[in-house]
Amino acid sequence: MSGKDEIVCTCNDVSRAVIEKAIKEKGLKTIEEVGDHTDAGTMCGGCVDEIYLILEKINGSVEL
Ligand code: FES
Repeated sequence: MSGKDEIVCTCNDVSRAVIEKAIKEKGLKTIEEVGDHTDAGTMCGGCVDEIYLILEKINGSVEL
């Protein structure tokens, strides 16, 4: 799967589109903030690398 509807976080069923929208609309900067707003990355942690890449793509860098 790829594209906007791709589920990035399978634990919480959070899609790429939801994560990208939250980052853009709320100005999220960290993986933790993405978890707070979307629940992505808050269970097994297996999707954290992907969330990092999405943050990096949108913001140009990632605050840790
Ligand atoms: S896949 Fe996102 S927390 Fe498990």
